[in-house]
Amino acid sequence: MKNVLGYEGQNVVITGAASGMGQAAAQLLVDLGANVYALDIAEVSTPVTTAIKVDMKDRESIDAAVAELPQQVYALFNCAGVPCPPFAPSDTLLINFCGLRHLTESLVPRISEGGAIASIASTAGMGWKHSQEQINEFLALDNDFEASAEWLNSQLQQEAIADPYGFSKQCIIFYTTSMARELAQKGIRINCIAPSPTDSGFMEKLTGEGQVPQDMVAMFLPSNGRYATGAEMGEPLVLLNSKLASFVSGNNLPVDFGYCAEVVIGQRDDMLGIC
Ligand SMILES: NC(=O)c1ccc[n+]([C@@H]2O[C@H](COP(=O)([O-])OP(=O)(O)OC[C@H]3O[C@@H](n4cnc5c(N)ncnc54)[C@H](O)[C@@H]3O)[C@@H](O)[C@H]2O)c1
Repeated sequence: MKNVLGYEGQNVVITGAASGMGQAAAQLLVDLGANVYALDIAEVSTPVTTAIKVDMKDRESIDAAVAELPQQVYALFNCAGVPCPPFAPSDTLLINFCGLRHLTESLVPRISEGGAIASIASTAGMGWKHSQEQINEFLALDNDFEASAEWLNSQLQQEAIADPYGFSKQCIIFYTTSMARELAQKGIRINCIAPSPTDSGFMEKLTGEGQVPQDMVAMFLPSNGRYATGAEMGEPLVLLNSKLASFVSGNNLPVDFGYCAEVVIGQRDDMLGIC
């Protein structure tokens, strides 16, 4: 049963490791004996193998970080993300999705058979099927960062996208689901999680600087009545990329103490278009 999760001595890459869910996952990975390469725009305090400054909305910054990473990677954790407000819609889409996709596709050639990718989406992205047409149009831009920002701004002008943050998370869920087939052919798994509201730097920005009232966020809390901790999200991510989940791929796992289950079964209003 030793090394049951399979991380000992393995190279793992994690974004958003300076705070919240990513920090909790990075600490756990260090404790499990992984060589942790942490990418963040902020200072990383966890004692990782290597911390690299990166701005996930900047393709060149990501390329520079990738150049510093090892040639063999066992697992990738995409945790970096920002809320909108207070972040601008185009920055939000670039950080939350375009940067995530560029890093993922840069590292896939370094991930060997048995490796895995896990990303953080959101319950706010669960309604992706209702945006299928826009997601297709957006993904057809081939992850050109400039064209993506322009496309989003034109969608906003036409009032075709109401929630840029939700759209960025819908894209993560769709991308995760649609990449599973191609990656399965290489023996690589890909999954994401959809967290309910979590007490983190993200939440402080959203409800503090962003002026989204706390009672509005509270409408999306699970029936246990509380915010999750960063660790309660980081831990399932570590599980999904571990040996214990070796046949699990293409899934978006709601980590929400049953919030989505209540919506699906009709016990709660479907405010996020989940069904
Ligand atoms: N907190 C919530 O309620 C909640 C709910 C659903 C999903 N999420 C998602 O969870 C993920 C983790 O967020 P968190 O709640 O731990 O918040 P957090 O703010 O504590 O952590 C986010 C991390 O991303 C980093 N980051 C931000 N912009 C970056 C950039 N341009 N380049 C590189 N790194 C950058 C931050 O420095 C920070 O370390 C995010 O993707 C967020 O969208 C959060």
